[in-house]
Amino acid sequence: MDSKSNDLMERIVSLCKRRGFVFQSSEIYGGINGFWDYGPLGAELKRNVKDFWWRVMTQRRDDVVGLEATIIMHPKIWEASGHTTTFADPMVDCLLTKKRYRADQIEAQSGVAYHYTGAEDSIDKTKTSTEPYSVLLTPGKNPESARKVAKQFYALRGLADARLLEERTEKVENSTRFNPENGSLLTEARLFNLMFKTCVGPVENAENTAYLRPETAQAIFAQFKNVAEVSRQKVPFGICQIGKAFRNEINPRNFTFRSREFEQMELEFFIRPDEAVEAICGSVARPAGAGHPGEPQANWGWQMWHKYWVEERLAFYESIGLPRTSLVEYWQKQEELAHYARATVDILYKFPFSKKNEAGELAGEELEGIAARSDFDLSQHQRFSGKAMGVFDEELKEAWGRLDESKKAALSKQYFESRRNYLVKMGEAADKAEAQAKEDAAGLARGSYVPHVIEPSAGVDRLALALICNAYGEDTAPDEKGKMETRIVMRFHPRIAPVKVAVFPLLKNKPELVKKAREVRDLLRPHMTVFYDEAGAIGRRYRRQDEAGTPFGVTIDFDTLGEQGPELKDTVTLRERDSMKQTRLKIEDLPALLMDRIR
Ligand code: GAP
Repeated sequence: MDSKSNDLMERIVSLCKRRGFVFQSSEIYGGINGFWDYGPLGAELKRNVKDFWWRVMTQRRDDVVGLEATIIMHPKIWEASGHTTTFADPMVDCLLTKKRYRADQIEAQSGVAYHYTGAEDSIDKTKTSTEPYSVLLTPGKNPESARKVAKQFYALRGLADARLLEERTEKVENSTRFNPENGSLLTEARLFNLMFKTCVGPVENAENTAYLRPETAQAIFAQFKNVAEVSRQKVPFGICQIGKAFRNEINPRNFTFRSREFEQMELEFFIRPDEAVEAICGSVARPAGAGHPGEPQANWGWQMWHKYWVEERLAFYESIGLPRTSLVEYWQKQEELAHYARATVDILYKFPFSKKNEAGELAGEELEGIAARSDFDLSQHQRFSGKAMGVFDEELKEAWGRLDESKKAALSKQYFESRRNYLVKMGEAADKAEAQAKEDAAGLARGSYVPHVIEPSAGVDRLALALICNAYGEDTAPDEKGKMETRIVMRFHPRIAPVKVAVFPLLKNKPELVKKAREVRDLLRPHMTVFYDEAGAIGRRYRRQDEAGTPFGVTIDFDTLGEQGPELKDTVTLRERDSMKQTRLKIEDLPALLMDRIR
């Protein structure tokens, strides 16, 4: 991060604490790394984000239903999903400070490595260490500084005045074996599983070990059959969920961006396998160019559905105020894809702390991943639980009956091969995989299959942070005496702004003004979050709301009471945060006008 971005991020973090968006968890005890609390404004912001996502993803659609599952689930779920074995990051420790890092985040460095075979204490010769150690000296640094680091290393092993043994130097290029902070050698990388373990019941043993869920998605797969049955949904349809997830991140960083406890908003959208689409529609539509593919169609295969959800999600972010130019649509390269994914698009936001690309522009950091996960998840749960996870599709059964023999054979072969490849990849013996895949292909001909999945998976906390960074602005505005002063203004989109409107009586010592202002507050309160404030000069009150990101301010003055004439009676001034424009309107028109702007 360059110093300008660093400075901006510091100002944002400071505002978050000062105004009560985000606090360090357990702050009075010194905090706990990777955990954050949301204060009054942050809690409202997060709630608005989740409510709007829920409205867009399920309440406004016929084809998505919701779920709210437990955080702790049967541990077999994590075996089936692969988390027990593969949800791990490579970890290294600094041999000097014992600080822990993610190996893949260590910056490559070049320089001269100073190697030692050990050391002995120059005063007490009986004290020796035969532990080899190395330090990297980056260009321009004095060799003595490498020796100083090495002596510190041996001092920790009881050699107060270490004499270094058999110094040898070696040129090193692009190495990630050394700590960029002090040059010390790091341990070899080893894998660290990120799931938080806990114990269910009073007896702490392996049998009772369970995990805090590292993603909300798996509960959706595990409950797929129940939800499909009760909601009477037919593929294609989706199940969505919002909830807490926990990951014991090796190196939580960038404020709330990488936390150990966070919330996800996930949709698992279940679709027909392409072979079923082809059997029913005669062909499978594939994306033809950029942009939104429009209303879903029966002949869409996984690629169209994937494209559709990428575009829907980009539109979502724009609709809550993140400009398209602040977002990056990143298509993962083949070698970056998870083993189950056919394609994944990450939506990145250009946070001030983002890495820069070759052109010196912010490259962006992940807000959401949209993965085409094939039929991996449901198939895994079918294998591990022994319960059928497939669906019966009447339309497919009928369409199959109308296909000519060569088409049947071609589609069966294609389906058989994809099922066999999956089973072999998951470690099934070749003959068992072959037999199971044959059965699956025969099932397809009878109208049964395991649905494929498109998964848009977003982080609530990352989005809240992106919205805070995006909203942060500084400009100038006149104070009460007309003198220009710097104002901090959080330009949240009204849809997600923590408080929608502030109501101010011009003066707090005029009972008629206060009474009227309270009436206006009570008129608006059933429809939106209202902040009532009668303390201090009106300019100060505006400024406080600008910092909180409140898009509208309503002031009740003597005109409202009709003191300047009956035509202005029961009118108020509406001030807009961004333009600071003030307009006069009737109190009775306020609810409809504001509702229109905040929905
Ligand atoms: N079910 C797929 C899944 O969990 P992921 O990319 O690991 O995919 C999805 O996580 C989203 O969850 C990320 O795009 C990010 O927004 C959020 N997320 C993941 N790890 C996080 C962390 N340590 N702190 C905050 N948010 C995180």
